[in-house]
Amino acid sequence: MHAQILVIDFGSQFAHLISRRVRDLAVSADVVPSTIAADEVATRKPRGIILSGGPASIYEEGAPGMDENILDLGIPVLGLCYGHQLMAHLTGGSVRAGDKREYGLATLRKTKDSQLLKGIGEQEQVWMNHGDIVGQLGQGFVATGATQNCGNACYEHQGRNLYGCQFHPEVTHTLCGSMIFSNFLRICKTEQDFGMKNIAEQAIAELAGKLNGRKAVIGLSGGVDSMTAAVLAAKAAPEQITAIFVDTGFMREGEAQEVRDAMAPLGLDVHIVDARTRFYQGLKGIIDPEEKRKAIGRMFIEVFREHAKGARVLIQGTIYPDRIESGGSAHASKIKSHHNVGGLPENVGMDIVEPLRELYKDEVRRLALQLGCPDELVWRHPFPGPGLAVRILGEATEERAAIVARANAILEEEMHGADLYKDIWQGFCVLLPISSVGVQGDARSYKQVIGIRLVKSTDAMTAEFAKVPWDFLEQVSTRITNEMTQVNRVVYDITHKPPATIEWE
Ligand code: XMP
Repeated sequence: MHAQILVIDFGSQFAHLISRRVRDLAVSADVVPSTIAADEVATRKPRGIILSGGPASIYEEGAPGMDENILDLGIPVLGLCYGHQLMAHLTGGSVRAGDKREYGLATLRKTKDSQLLKGIGEQEQVWMNHGDIVGQLGQGFVATGATQNCGNACYEHQGRNLYGCQFHPEVTHTLCGSMIFSNFLRICKTEQDFGMKNIAEQAIAELAGKLNGRKAVIGLSGGVDSMTAAVLAAKAAPEQITAIFVDTGFMREGEAQEVRDAMAPLGLDVHIVDARTRFYQGLKGIIDPEEKRKAIGRMFIEVFREHAKGARVLIQGTIYPDRIESGGSAHASKIKSHHNVGGLPENVGMDIVEPLRELYKDEVRRLALQLGCPDELVWRHPFPGPGLAVRILGEATEERAAIVARANAILEEEMHGADLYKDIWQGFCVLLPISSVGVQGDARSYKQVIGIRLVKSTDAMTAEFAKVPWDFLEQVSTRITNEMTQVNRVVYDITHKPPATIEWE
C-alpha cells in the first residue's frame, strides 16, 4: 500500500522529520528523492505532496529541481522553505536573495484568510532557516502570511491547491506547526490509517529475521539508544547476543558498573572490557574531531572483534538524527560523522543491523519504557558514542578525561539537586583546549576552562540553550572551581543549534 503523503526530499535535514510529523497525525507518509517523475507520483496516488527544504539556493548550479508536471496532477502540494521557493519559481514567481538571512525564531503575521493557516493565531512564533526569499508570486497566488523580512512567508493558490511556507512547520519551535500539517491533511482529504502499532513487537520480529540465527554483538555506550537496541536484541534472540561495554576511559564517572547493574534484570549480561590504555594511546596527538571519531570507531571495532569471536552481525543503536547528521540523505551536507556510522571503517567484517534507524529520540524513549527499561535510564541524557573524547577539545588524554568527568559529575549532581535534570534535554561539561588567567588565594593562576552546555530539544535536530537560573549556574561554577584544583574558569554556552551543534566536536 502506498503512503497517503509523499515527501519529496530536496536534501533537507528535516525531510524525514516532516514524514514523522505526518505520521504523528496518524497518516502514512513516505520520503522520496527529488528526481521522482510525475508519472511515478501519479502511479502512487498520494493524497498530498510535501516539498521539503534543502541547503541549496534555487539558482545555484546543481540545485535540485523537480518534474514540474507534479504540480499539475491535481494533488495538493505544500512547499516548505526550498520547496516553497522552488514552487514559486516554477509557477511564474521569482526568488531572490533576502536582504537579511534568517536563522532562528521569527514572528509570522497572518495577512489573509487561508485554509492552510486556519485556526492559528494572528501572530505565531515560527522557525526560519534561509537566505533566499520569494519576491513575486505567480498568477493566481496570494500571500497569506508575512514575517518582518519576508513578505511572502506563506502563499497559496486555492484553485490549484498549492501552498507554500518559508518557515519550517516540522520543527517544534514552530508552535503552530502541527496545526498547519493538520490543515494540509484536511485539504488533502487524508484518512487516519497509520497507528503507532506495537513498535516493540514489530522491531523484535524484524530483528529476529535479520539475525536469522547468527551470533551478534552490540556495544553499549551508556545512552538510551544502545541500551534500547540491546534490550530489543536480547528479546529477539537471547542466546545469540553478546553485549559489550567498552570502557574507553572516556565514560561518565562510575558508568560501566551502573550500566551492568541496570541491564542484569532485563536479561542482558553485560561484558565490561577495560580498553582504557588502548584508547588513551590510540588518541595520542589527535586533535581533529573527525579524525578522533574515526580513530574511536576503529578501536571500537577492534575491541568488538577481539571480544565477540564468532559474531557475524554488529547491532548498533543508531537513530534517525545520527544518520542524517552523517550525510544520510541525497543532498544534505555532511555535518559530523558519528562514530557508529560515518566513522566506521569500510570493511567491518560483520553485517550491521540498526533496529532504531528510523526512530527519533522521543520514540526510542517510548520504546524503551515499553520494553521495561528503568525510568532513570530511559530519561538519562543522551551520551555520544565517542563519549567524553568529543567533549575534550583538542587532544583527549587520560588526565583531561578525569577533569571533564569530574566537572560533569558535579554538574549532574547539581541538575538533580535543583530538579532540573528532566527539564533539560542534554547537559554536560566540555574541557576547552586553552588555559586562562585567574586569581585564587591571592595568587595568579593559569588553569583550565570548563564550558557548560545545557540544551532543550525534542529530537536533537534543533536545540535551544537552556535559560536556567543564574543561581544554579553560580552554584555549579563555584563547586567546580572550589573542588577542582585544575580549573579556574567556567563559561556557559549560549548558542542554539543551529548554528552550533549540541556537542562541541
Ligand atoms: P550534535 O552535536 O550533532 O548532537 O548536535 C546531536 C545528538 O547526537 C549525539 N551525538 C552522538 N551520538 N555518536 C553518537 O552515538 C556520536 O558520534 C555523536 N555525536 C553527537 C549528541 O550527544 C546529541 O545528543
